[in-house]
Amino acid sequence: MALSPLQQVIIGRIQRSGPISFADYMQMALYEPEYGYYVSGPAKMGWEGDYYTSTDVSSFFAYCMGQQLLQMWDALGQPSPFVVVEQGSGRGKLAHGIRLWAEQHAPTLRAALNYHTEDIRAGQNALAQNVLSPSVILSNELIDAFPVHIVQLYKKKLYEVYVDIQSDGRLYEVLDDPFSHEIACYLDSYKIPWQTFPDGWRAEINLDALHWLARSAQAIGHHGFLLTIDYGDKARALYTPARINGTLACYFQHQFSDAPLIRPGKQDITAHVNFSALLSEGRRQGLHLHTFTTQRLWLTQMGISEELERVRARDFAVIDMDRASNRGQIALLQWYNLRQGVMALTDPAGMGNFKVLILKR
Ligand SMILES: C[S@@+](CC[C@H](N)C(=O)[O-])C[C@H]1O[C@@H](n2cnc3c(N)ncnc32)[C@H](O)[C@@H]1O
Repeated sequence: MALSPLQQVIIGRIQRSGPISFADYMQMALYEPEYGYYVSGPAKMGWEGDYYTSTDVSSFFAYCMGQQLLQMWDALGQPSPFVVVEQGSGRGKLAHGIRLWAEQHAPTLRAALNYHTEDIRAGQNALAQNVLSPSVILSNELIDAFPVHIVQLYKKKLYEVYVDIQSDGRLYEVLDDPFSHEIACYLDSYKIPWQTFPDGWRAEINLDALHWLARSAQAIGHHGFLLTIDYGDKARALYTPARINGTLACYFQHQFSDAPLIRPGKQDITAHVNFSALLSEGRRQGLHLHTFTTQRLWLTQMGISEELERVRARDFAVIDMDRASNRGQIALLQWYNLRQGVMALTDPAGMGNFKVLILKR
């Protein structure tokens, strides 16, 4: 089979300098200029892409984020301008929803709101220095895309996964000593008893998440918030023997795959986020924990159920008054659709189990 240009670049690099860490491979697969998954071709989100996010599922997500921003704005003494930077904003759906909500429901906040979106597709890397000094930095499903190192247990010893090429030119995994002391000690720093875990056990280590947090914390200045939503958990819940294969997942046209070495640049590669790492790096950077909860509870606290009821009473009264009519039947279907979206956002076995972390200074 003909090799893609990105496969050729990856192979060329391994031929020149030897096996590369899985993190280097993932960096190239997702971010290699011209060819990487996130920086080339059409945007991959939404029903026509490889995956969908909370912003695709329901506009109530933007409503709740708007409520959260309003609370933060109040807590900061209603600064004007109120600079908010959304990183990894994709097609800007959340930004659009928040602006719309603020126009309709919080005009004073809207007047102060200075909402910026950034995405690597537009050449803005969340890992690079932020030029603005925002009051809030927020992101949804950003950190899970950062390249991860993978460690694997073999005969009670921890190795790192590297990527090499076979004689037929195919990429394959090899184990060797961890690339750095930081990787070798990472699990120990969260008191993970990996020595007791079964042979073959794997885990992902996201060092870029720490760099990102440090840079974001520095960008925030004297007072402000950092809010990030993603799948993942605290370290002790994430790194368990039950997750013997770790959490690395690939998505191609909404299909899950556990084969990251095929189709580099054509499929998404993600891993669950270790929120303990974000929290401890945040503390090192002088931030304090404000909220750590599930998306389900956070949306509930932001009033998603009440908003759903308000919309029902405002826009769907015809369901109760004239259900049998065409209008009544159409409204009923639209209502089911709306309610379904909210149920998906709060589903405890799905998006509702995403974690929401808010740090403050
Ligand atoms: C899973 S999508 C989420 C998009 C959007 N936040 C949403 O909720 O629909 C991840 C987004 O992060 C962007 N991204 C990935 N790595 C990035 C980085 N290092 N810096 C900035 N944006 C990044 C991708 O281009 C993509 O738009």
